[in-house]
This record gives sequence, structure tokens and C-alpha cells, in this order.
Amino acid sequence: MTTTPVLILLALALIIPSLNGSNPNERLPTFWDEAPSSISGYPLASNRSVKQDLTRLIDPWLYIDRLGLYKILIITTTPLMPFCSSSNVSNILFGLPSQFGWQFDSNRLFSNGSRKISTDSWWGAANYYLSVIPFLAAVDAGVIQQDSFELVQRENFCSSSSECFREIPEAMTLWRTFFTNLRQANYCQSNSFDNRIMDRCYLAPMWSAHRASIRYALPMIASKIPLLPSVTEQRFGVGWAHLVDFIGMARENTNLSNVLKYQDAFFPYRLLRNDDHPPHCPDFSRTVNQGLELLLSIKPEWNQEMLRLWQRATCNYESRQDAQRVLQIAAISKTTALKYYSEAVLKSYLHECDQN
Ligand SMILES: *[C@@H]1O[C@H](CO)[C@@H](O)[C@H](O)[C@H]1NC(C)=O
Ligand SMILES: *[C@@H]1O[C@H](CO)[C@@H](O)[C@H](O)[C@H]1NC(C)=O
Ligand SMILES: *[C@@H]1O[C@H](CO)[C@@H](O)[C@H](O)[C@H]1NC(C)=O
Ligand SMILES: *[C@@H]1O[C@H](CO)[C@@H](O)[C@H](O)[C@H]1NC(C)=O
Repeated sequence: MTTTPVLILLALALIIPSLNGSNPNERLPTFWDEAPSSISGYPLASNRSVKQDLTRLIDPWLYIDRLGLYKILIITTTPLMPFCSSSNVSNILFGLPSQFGWQFDSNRLFSNGSRKISTDSWWGAANYYLSVIPFLAAVDAGVIQQDSFELVQRENFCSSSSECFREIPEAMTLWRTFFTNLRQANYCQSNSFDNRIMDRCYLAPMWSAHRASIRYALPMIASKIPLLPSVTEQRFGVGWAHLVDFIGMARENTNLSNVLKYQDAFFPYRLLRNDDHPPHCPDFSRTVNQGLELLLSIKPEWNQEMLRLWQRATCNYESRQDAQRVLQIAAISKTTALKYYSEAVLKSYLHECDQN
């Protein structure tokens, strides 16, 4: 009984890719080039009484408009991340538009060939809290200082900073903290940049905010789960949302190449149907099949126990390095993964756990 969660945790790790080898593919999300790269790239809000009012109108339910929010975030934050000196693809926010692009490509936004995001789409609704929310928080923190803008409101999705602070305060606060940190002149000052600083000063606050967005968004969008086209897709979506927690606790780097690696290896390129029975989906690669089979085999009631174990195994920097190796190696060797898992737990006792 007690070993079951450990085994599941290891099995679950199979769906995270090996990070060995380099990925020559730093593919940008679909239509990236067409997305606005500044707020002035959006249309003027017409029908204004004052002629010189240059307020821009952003419709986050248009794929290109939402993609533009990401592009602006990447452009404005890259100079604020010391590890991005060579390229914006090192930006740890790039994982977000990369996931969004996959959702669009696989019709998870229910765009059905158009560039509109359907408000019926559970994925599109979940992504709202990982696009509009960080964007508004970045504006609030002063990272984005450009033309004034208005967001088109749909349903009860908050569309201004004050509204979003009321609706989802924890996530807004954590995202604002992440961006406020970036703006501090001597943030995490040290003589040389290293992976510990990356972990503590950048990945930690980003993942806290990311996880809060998902945690608080899920109940708000639960009514859209039944609109997903199959029970299999429903289980995949909710399973993936929970898995993000485990990846976040291990503080995986979310730069473009790292995210593309698992996205390409393990993410289904289309919506799942009820007659999909992984690992026997002929149009999916072996790794996509394996990943799906595992994700779908996890019972929701195991989640708490698995989280508890993973919390321990990721409680300090040393243990997280091994926890990441667990996630990276399990696909190749469960024995090695088990060894790393034991190492992670051991180091969680040898070194002091992080505060909070
Ligand atoms: C302009 O806005 C007013 C008030 O919101 C509305 O009644 C009118 O139909 C709008 N006109 C156009 C051309 O959109
Ligand atoms: C990021 O870097 C790539 C490659 O250097 C460049 O083509 C692109 O314009 C840059 N900016 C964005 C927002 O992608
Ligand atoms: C992305 O993150 C991985 C893992 O930390 C790292 O090895 C790689 O160098 C990073 N890539 C870029 C372009 O920063
Ligand atoms: C769009 O695609 C989704 C997912 O395949 C489907 O459920 C929905 O009915 C489609 N909508 C229209 C208007 O075709």
C-alpha cells in the first residue's frame, strides 16, 4: 500500500522527457511572427468620443491577440533576466506561449480552423489565467509601460488588474511579485550567476505564481469540463493540470527548448476521443502513447499522497536536482529513477529544507 504512490510517482515520471542531448528545434508558436510585439500593435479602440484617445483594444479570445500578450511579456522581460543575454529563447516564460501554441495546433481552443478561441474551450479558459493574468500583473508591476489598453471581456473572466485582483488575488499577487523582483536593480545580487540563483530567485517565484494560477482557475472553469469532446480528453486535461504541480515542485526550467522537448515527445497533436485506448493509438508516437497511458492510469484519489511524497523529495535545492533526474530518467530506466528518488529523499534529510 505505501509503496504504491512511490511506484506511481516513478511511472508518472515516464511522461517527462529525457533532457539528454540538445534540441536543435527552437520552434516558435504558430503565427508568432504575426502577433503584435507591442501594445501599439493592437487596433485602436474605435467609437471613442475623444479623438486623441489612443487606447488599444485587445481581445484575449483571439489567438493572435493572446499570443501578442505573450510576445510582449517575452520582449519586455528578456532584458531583465540575466541568463537571457544570448537569446530570448532562454526566457523562462517561453514555456507558456509554447503550451498555448500546442493548444491551438491541436484544436484544444476549439478554433476549428479559425483564429478565435471558443469560450467553451476548457483549455482556452485555463490558459486565460496563464496569459491575461501574468500580463496584467506585469503591467501592474511596471514591467510593461506602453500605450493604454482595454481588454475585451467575455463571460465572467476578469479583464482589468483591479477586477483580477478581486477575482483571483493569490495568483495576481504572486505574479506581481515575480515581475516586481525582475525590476529590482540589484535583485539577487551576487558575483556570478549560477543554477542555485536560477532556482531560488527566478524559477521559484515563477512556479509559485504558475501553480497558483492553475489551482485557483480550476474550480472557476469546472463547468467547461463536460464540454470537452470525450471523457478521455477530460481525464487527460485534468490529469495534466495536476501533473504541472509535480513539475513545478521540481522547479524544471521552462525555457523554450526544455518545454518543446516534452511537448514534442509526449503531447497528443489532436483532441482525444473515447475510442482512444493508449498505448494503442496508431496515429500517436510510442512516447505519446506511453505518456497518455500513464497519465490516464493515475487515480485522482492518489494525488494527495503523491503530492506529500513529492513535497519531501523536492524540499531543497539538492533534492530537487535528483527529483529532476527522476523525471528525466524514468523513461529510460526505472531502476535508475528509483535510485535518484532515494537520493532526493536522502538529501531532503541531509540538507535543511527550504523555508515556507
Ligand atoms: C458607440 O458606442 C455607443 C455607446 O456605447 C453605442 O450606442 C453605439 O452604437 C456605438 N457606435 C458604433 C458605431 O459602434
Ligand atoms: C527572439 O529571438 C529570435 C531569434 O534571435 C528573434 O528572431 C525574435 O525576433 C526575438 N523576439 C521574439 C519576440 O521572438
Ligand atoms: C534551457 O534549460 C535547460 C535546463 O536547465 C538548460 O540546460 C538549457 O541550456 C536552457 N536553454 C537555453 C537556451 O537557455
Ligand atoms: C469546434 O471543435 C470542437 C472540438 O472538436 C467541437 O466540440 C465543436 O463542436 C466545434 N464547433 C463548431 C462550431 O464546429
